[in-house]
Amino acid sequence: MSQDDLKQAVAQAALDTIRPNMDSDMVIGIGTGSTANRFIDLLGDLRTQFDGAVASSEASAQRLRERGIPVYDLNSVSELRFYVDGADEFNEQRELIKGGGGALTREKIVAAVADQFLCIADQSKRVSLLGAFPLPIEVIPMARSYVAREIVKLEGNPVYRQGVTTDNGNIILDVHNLTINNPIELERQINQITGVVTNGLFAQRPADTMFVGTDQGVETLGH
Ligand code: A5P
Repeated sequence: MSQDDLKQAVAQAALDTIRPNMDSDMVIGIGTGSTANRFIDLLGDLRTQFDGAVASSEASAQRLRERGIPVYDLNSVSELRFYVDGADEFNEQRELIKGGGGALTREKIVAAVADQFLCIADQSKRVSLLGAFPLPIEVIPMARSYVAREIVKLEGNPVYRQGVTTDNGNIILDVHNLTINNPIELERQINQITGVVTNGLFAQRPADTMFVGTDQGVETLGH
């Protein structure tokens, strides 16, 4: 199967999980990236069966609206039962690296609010040790050099993502060469550096369910 087929299959698996729970009041949390886009496109066919969505990026919000799905501000939503998003890397504990698309902060906020985080990814993202994918960090612009120096103390190699401004008006540092033996601890450590908005490790709040697209079908990790 092609990578596109695998993305389509995991998007369908997430939809199959949510669909029996759908009602006219349901608002669904939506992530960012090419796999999340597959899910948005599938949701478009069901737009009369749920209320609307909360998006983790302006790009996803626009795609949702183009498919006739109302997009709500997270602050106006009282319940978010599901959040569906992709990942750049995941391990067997369903810990993730996210933020390749630069939307990590809003993704982390929506994931924090949701009762269930359904992560959809093809098997190419699967690793035993997180960190081969450079870890994105969203940083307040004036703190860029300071945060970079602090990251070097953690033995990472921070690279400024040139020309990128996040939806929140900040910059991204991509950290190479990290050996992430303890994702929960590293997530905490990096978030404590002054000037860091958040980092792309999702370990304190991992995915509840991972749908993994493989050549043998969709594998489910978690519950
Ligand atoms: C966006 O900021 C990321 O966290 C995405 O979820 C991640 O990059 C996965 O994107 P793809 O589905 O395009 O691989």
